[in-house]
Amino acid sequence: MKRLKKRILLIPAVFVILAALCVYLFFGAKQTDTDTDIQVGENGTRSLIVYFTRSGNITAEEAEDTDAVSSASMMANDGSTEFAAYKLQQVTGADMFEIRTARMYRSAFWGTAATSFLEELLDTRPALAAYPDSLEKYDVIYVGYPIWWFNAPMAVGSFLEHYNLTGKTVVPFCTAQDNGIDVSMEYIREVSQGADVSDGYRFTAGTTEEDIRNWLEKIGISVKESVQEEDRTPDGEEQAMVGERQEAAVPADITAGTQSQRGFLNDNTLHSSIGDIHYSSYIPESYDGSEPYALFITLPGWEGLHFQGVGANMVEDFGTESINYNDRMIVLSTQLDDWGEVSADHAITLTEYFLEHYNIDPDKVYLHGMSGGGETGSLVMGKRPDLYTAYLMTSSQWDGDLDTLAEAGTPVYMAIAENDSYYGSGSLKEAYEKLKTIYEKQGLSEEEINRLLVLDVKEDSYFMERGFRDQHAGGQAFAHDETVMGWLFGEH
Ligand SMILES: Cc1cc2nc3c(=O)[nH]c(=O)nc-3n(C[C@H](O)[C@H](O)[C@H](O)COP(=O)(O)O)c2cc1C
Repeated sequence: MKRLKKRILLIPAVFVILAALCVYLFFGAKQTDTDTDIQVGENGTRSLIVYFTRSGNITAEEAEDTDAVSSASMMANDGSTEFAAYKLQQVTGADMFEIRTARMYRSAFWGTAATSFLEELLDTRPALAAYPDSLEKYDVIYVGYPIWWFNAPMAVGSFLEHYNLTGKTVVPFCTAQDNGIDVSMEYIREVSQGADVSDGYRFTAGTTEEDIRNWLEKIGISVKESVQEEDRTPDGEEQAMVGERQEAAVPADITAGTQSQRGFLNDNTLHSSIGDIHYSSYIPESYDGSEPYALFITLPGWEGLHFQGVGANMVEDFGTESINYNDRMIVLSTQLDDWGEVSADHAITLTEYFLEHYNIDPDKVYLHGMSGGGETGSLVMGKRPDLYTAYLMTSSQWDGDLDTLAEAGTPVYMAIAENDSYYGSGSLKEAYEKLKTIYEKQGLSEEEINRLLVLDVKEDSYFMERGFRDQHAGGQAFAHDETVMGWLFGEH
């Protein structure tokens, strides 16, 4: 009788344990990044890279361990699918979208392993955090994923089955510890109804651009074909308008660009005395030279250098967001040659040129620099701070001469993550303290110093709340922060 009682009590206990396990495995934290936007690649591309990577689907602490720097704007080759996707984008110029599950996997390896094992066993399709509205404009869809349990993660099926893929080409690629991509091909074919599925490719940390090109050639995808030639030149009314409107005021030393991206004409060249300076520009339609306009120059970080591709600097949002603060402002985004002296001189020359050849209000000349561009901006501040009304630097370190800056007294705002994964926050804290001391020696009051100098160190939560897992690439969030951007374009 006692035994029977024990057994009867055991049943609910087992039930409770199983229920708790299910909750643990299938109810991880809610995904914070629910952005449905597709990251835009080359102008007019008809290819999309969608990829799934573990670090994007587990909680942040673990993601930082497995994926130290996890954004295309500052990418480390860690052999992950995210990096494979990034390499593929370099070759194809395709647009990009990251698949994220609505609920994150447990960050402990065995937690991810158990959930994904059960998902596969039960052939489930986990709910996703976001789906782009339409894939209609794409002919080729590259699908990247890590091999999980001798297959693709089930979330890849959740994504592909969501769309009508009839007539499209699906091109799988993967990363894995041991297996080849062949183990997942049957599943990818099954979930790509109506599409032509090409032979897949397994990326490793050593995969080169040439390897990628050879594979694409083998499966009959010409990289040039995937970016339609006619779409590389200005297409549609908007681009023609951008071209025309900027042509009217272009001085002789400038070769105006012909390609536009996100409303910017992005392949302009200034033939200056110190060499060619490449930059993107936004000149408001209303500008006709009769009235002074403000000038804003934003110096981008990774992907903003000229050799990384014309217009690649448009991955950052500082230029596009700045337009919301002043509709009578010319915005330039440089494509520089380094993050050092050469580029600092380029930025200065470009500023001087615009001051001379355009009708610019010298009291409204703003500079910004992100990451490596921030370092360049700090060098500019150490050389010609007098040219600028204010300087905003985000997610960077200070390299420039502080005494020259302090002499001019140009206001500076330094925004950085406490735990910036690339620079840390030490350099800006130190620069802040040194500059503050110089100003104190100049006899400035605390109030005066606070007007000239702001150090804004953000906790991890600032970035997490805005959907950024990485504290350095998360500097992009400052472009959308009205306090930060509002300071730059406010009263000085
Ligand atoms: C849950 C889980 C299951 C895995 N199963 C396999 C497998 O069956 N075969 C294999 O070669 N690698 C397997 N791996 C290793 C991953 O495929 C490999 O580490 C991959 O490069 C990770 O890419 P990611 O960092 O983009 O997520 C597995 C990894 C995890 C987390």
